[in-house]
Amino acid sequence: MNVNSTSVSVVAHPAAAALLTRLRDKQTATEEFRQRLSALTLLLVAEALRDATTVPDPVETPLGRAEGLRLEPLPAIVPVLRAGLGMLDATLRLVPGAPVGFIGMRRIEASGGSGHNGISHECYLESLPGVMEGAPVLLMDPMLATGGSAQAAIRVLRAAGVGPITMVCVLAAPEGVASMQRTAPDVRIVTAAVDSRLDERAFIVPGLGDAGDRLYGSA
Ligand code: PRP
Repeated sequence: MNVNSTSVSVVAHPAAAALLTRLRDKQTATEEFRQRLSALTLLLVAEALRDATTVPDPVETPLGRAEGLRLEPLPAIVPVLRAGLGMLDATLRLVPGAPVGFIGMRRIEASGGSGHNGISHECYLESLPGVMEGAPVLLMDPMLATGGSAQAAIRVLRAAGVGPITMVCVLAAPEGVASMQRTAPDVRIVTAAVDSRLDERAFIVPGLGDAGDRLYGSA
């Protein structure tokens, strides 16, 4: 799906849909929520890396030479805290040697900010290794709601001089996609679903609730 120049890949896989259903279910408790998010992340990241560039990497098997390959440049992984941390381990299983940076971002509701319904976003942590300069980045956050957190994180990444950015999320709202289209049309979005809308608190409907709270048991 292309929304003007913003590329949005919705992973249409039955296993992804089944995992997402468990995440949506309010009866799904923390332990299962973590496991299912991790499994779904594997599918999302596989799609995000579909067009990743590779170089030849021949190896000797016990029976002879095989024409292998490796990812190069190696993508860097940047989870947006807190909820993006729930996607990190699974991503590292697919790119075990990837550099990892961290961005801490929180939404402040009813702050009188300029975003959707007065929401603003506060960046409370930036920790990006220097080796990320020029590298393609997988920006991990389960939720793209208003898009404010993603856009603030993208500003931090651009200031650090990274290469092409792919945002990997579980759920996106049409409002968040539209706002990315306006402000960061070159950022590809990979998601398991685009839901119907945001509610008055800027939560995705039907969504899955607050991903950070469901991951870390504060729901
Ligand atoms: C949630 C979510 C995203 C952001 C999405 O994080 O995990 O980071 O909101 O909303 P937006 O698109 O409107 O910015 P939250 O601020 O609740 O922090 P948390 O991850 O620590 O729970």
